[in-house]
Amino acid sequence: MSAQKDLKRITAPDIRARKGGEPVVCLTAYDAPTAAILDRHCDLLLVGDSLGMVVHGLDTTVGVTLEMMILHGRAVMRTSKRALVVVDLPFGSYEESPEAAFRSASRVMAETGCQAIKIESGRFAAETIAFLTGRGIPVMAHVGLRPQSMHMLGGFRIQGRAKGAREAIVADAAAADAAGAFAIVVEKVDQATAQAVTDAVEAPTIGIGASNVCDGQVLVTSDMLGLIDWAPKFAKRYETMGQRIDAAVRDYAADVKARRFPGPEHTYGAARR
Ligand code: KIV
Repeated sequence: MSAQKDLKRITAPDIRARKGGEPVVCLTAYDAPTAAILDRHCDLLLVGDSLGMVVHGLDTTVGVTLEMMILHGRAVMRTSKRALVVVDLPFGSYEESPEAAFRSASRVMAETGCQAIKIESGRFAAETIAFLTGRGIPVMAHVGLRPQSMHMLGGFRIQGRAKGAREAIVADAAAADAAGAFAIVVEKVDQATAQAVTDAVEAPTIGIGASNVCDGQVLVTSDMLGLIDWAPKFAKRYETMGQRIDAAVRDYAADVKARRFPGPEHTYGAARR
C-alpha cells in the first residue's frame, strides 16, 4: 500500500471533526469486492466482529479470533481507497490489560494497514483507550449493547431501560470520550438515551438501533441488503439480496439440468448446429 494511496483516505481526526455536522455514513465490510462498492459511499468502513455471525455462521461474536479479524481487515483494505477503515478487536484480545490491548491493536494495524481499531467499552476500558491513543492508535469506542458481553447482558436486548442504566451508558461514553476515543458507537438504546449520550460527549456518536439523533449511523451490511432472512427491527432493509441470489441460483440450476448453460456464447470452439 503506497503512502500516496493513504493520503486520500478520511482520517480519524476528520471523523472526530464531524461532531454535530454532516452525519457520518458507516457500514460494516468484510470482503474485497463489497468493500470496493461501499467505499464509494461511506466515510467509515467497520470490519466488525459481527463477521463471526454473518459470514462464518457463529451464534455470537464470542468465538471470533484476532486472525479472523486480520484476514478480513486485509481484504477490505485492498479494495477500499477513501473510507477510514476500522477493525474490531475481538473478545479476549484486549480486556486483560492496556498492554494486551496494545499488542492486539498494533498487530491488527501493522498486518492489515487499517487506520483505527474499535473496542466494546464500558468504563473499564477507559484506561486502555488512553493507553492506545497515547501511543498513536485511534480508538472507536462502543457502548450500549455490547454483543461480546451478551452472556452478561442476558441476550441482545435493548439497553438503558433498567433503573440507572441510561446514566451508566452515558458514564461509559463519557469515560471513552475523556480517554480520547475519536468516535463512539451507540448500539440498541432508546432515543432519549442516544440523545443523552450524544449531548454528553465531544466525539461523534455513531448509532446502530439508536435513533436518528446520533452524529452518524452504522448498519451491518448484510442486514441492510437483506442477505439473511432475519434482521433486527432497527435495520432498514434496502434490498432483498438473499431472495435475489436464491432466484439466480435456481435459474442456474434449471439451465444446467436442461443443458441450456453453457450456451455457444460461453463455449470455446462451439460446434455449429
Ligand atoms: O461488529 C459489528 O458489526 C459492530 C456493529 C454492530 C457496530 O460492532
